[in-house]
Amino acid sequence: MSADTPLTKEPDASTGTAVAGGELIRLEGVTKRFGTNTVLDDLNFSVEPGKHVTLIGPSGSGKTTILRLLMTLTKPDEGTITVDGQPLFPAPEKQVREVRKKIGMVFQQFNLFPNMSVLRNLTEAPVRVLGLSKDEAEARARELLDLVGLADKCDAKPTRLSGGQQQRVAIARALAMRPQVLLLDEVTSALDPELVAGVLDLLRDIARSTDITMLCVTHEMGFARDISDQVLMFDAGRVIEAGAPEKIFGDPEQERTREFISAVL
Ligand SMILES: Nc1ncnc2c1ncn2[C@@H]1O[C@H](COP(=O)(O)OP(=O)(O)OP(=O)(O)O)[C@@H](O)[C@H]1O
Ligand SMILES: [Mg+2]
Repeated sequence: MSADTPLTKEPDASTGTAVAGGELIRLEGVTKRFGTNTVLDDLNFSVEPGKHVTLIGPSGSGKTTILRLLMTLTKPDEGTITVDGQPLFPAPEKQVREVRKKIGMVFQQFNLFPNMSVLRNLTEAPVRVLGLSKDEAEARARELLDLVGLADKCDAKPTRLSGGQQQRVAIARALAMRPQVLLLDEVTSALDPELVAGVLDLLRDIARSTDITMLCVTHEMGFARDISDQVLMFDAGRVIEAGAPEKIFGDPEQERTREFISAVL
């Protein structure tokens, strides 16, 4: 990555990134129910700017629900969520739209726009949501496609790409919005095994060379150990243990964490 890309660790006045200290994401007393099923139960946690936090835990423990709350794809029943000091919930719709711009997400199933070219997948939201000119958006898109190793695929339709290539496009699309926070939900679990390493290497590179805060759900424990500043172990809608990756993977306090890690390793 060249030194003048928008992704380097320089503070960026235009996006207000690189907030000194404090918390970029804060969830307080967040409860989410689906009918009688309490999926998140009085959940509290925060993420400092620039940190890489990994959520681990059994299927159904609420990991995706947390990312969906931050993407405002669903709302909590109780509690507050703030991003960069601004309320995301509860908050008026106009403010939600502003705060939402700080957050990008990459999904397990890529979710690219199938009828648009790869380039247009990357320019659509920057033009519509951020108000970039078409030229600016295309320049940014080409730079990012270069970064993810797909400069030659600008005109291709996503369906013509391999799963690994589609996921690289999805990562580039999220970065095109210059988010302060990148949410990653099991982004390699739909990929053929031989494509997993390339996508994880790209994410390692992004983690190392940018100041983007990452909140990552993954079953790739080696990757989690490499990139994480902190690992949060979830069970039944609560954080049951949090710590440095060496501690959580090497010497967890909770029996439940120990069981989970030995089952997935
Ligand atoms: N739209 C929905 N309607 C009803 N129940 C839901 C909905 N979305 C999630 N749930 C329930 O919420 C619980 C948590 O789901 P979530 O997808 O957050 O789990 P997860 O930790 O991401 O699991 P996995 O590791 O399998 O992806 C599950 O019991 C699930 O069935
Ligand atoms: Mg999930």
